[in-house]
Amino acid sequence: MNFIVLTIFPELFDPFWEYGIISRAIKRNKINVSAVNIRDFAAGKHRVTDDRPYGGGCGMVMKAEPLASAIRAAKITNSSAKTVLLTPQGRTFKQNLAREFASHKGLILVCGRYEGVDERICEEFIDYEISIGDYILTGGELAAMVIIEAVTRMVPGTLGGVDSAGKDTFSDNLLEHAHYTRPRSLEGEDVPEVLLSGNHKAIEKWRFETSLIRTFLKRRDLLKDRPLSRQEIEILKKWCRDIEKIIHTQSLFGFDALSGSQ
Ligand code: ADE
Repeated sequence: MNFIVLTIFPELFDPFWEYGIISRAIKRNKINVSAVNIRDFAAGKHRVTDDRPYGGGCGMVMKAEPLASAIRAAKITNSSAKTVLLTPQGRTFKQNLAREFASHKGLILVCGRYEGVDERICEEFIDYEISIGDYILTGGELAAMVIIEAVTRMVPGTLGGVDSAGKDTFSDNLLEHAHYTRPRSLEGEDVPEVLLSGNHKAIEKWRFETSLIRTFLKRRDLLKDRPLSRQEIEILKKWCRDIEKIIHTQSLFGFDALSGSQ
């Protein structure tokens, strides 16, 4: 997978390439990366990359010519790469898009700045317009890093575990189960017994159930596009019954009774 970032601040990416999963993926030749300065493609002594908007108004617009030349140059060595413009007006980046991007040979990530880029660039050169969320950043550089990291995780051989990405939150439109590590007891809160049992089947079952329940509680929107199986409905129903039992016990015997009922 080839990532070419077009930006007026390529130095921002130097530390990004140097750490963690990105650095490992580069060393293992799983990804190739480069951050190219759009200014190098701008004409004139001052290599200007922005200009005032036609029609007036505040802010500046990224000029079309330097961007067009930078994209064309990137395409020479990566003819099948897809071009991605980072913009708050784009489609929201989600895990399924990370998976789709990982299936391409390369991505040319165009980092907008100022008020935006000349519209003719979007029409002529851009395959995807992508936003990382409904907020405004000063430029697309952080958004490009987010995409590079999420996509790199999907490239086989970049993660520690054999199939860690497959178990990630969102991999099946479910949040991941809870995680615990030592100490076994922390300020009166104990690690769930089942995780200490060594019974792998029971642990898998517990993990799946908690993953389903926490998705239901925290991000019910994720279940909208994912029909529940009969088994999953039963899990949620059982959990509702357990909650009812707890509330009932508490209403009869007070809060102290709960510790005994768990
Ligand atoms: N550029 C500015 N804001 C952005 C956002 N939310 N996502 C992607 N690119 C951006």
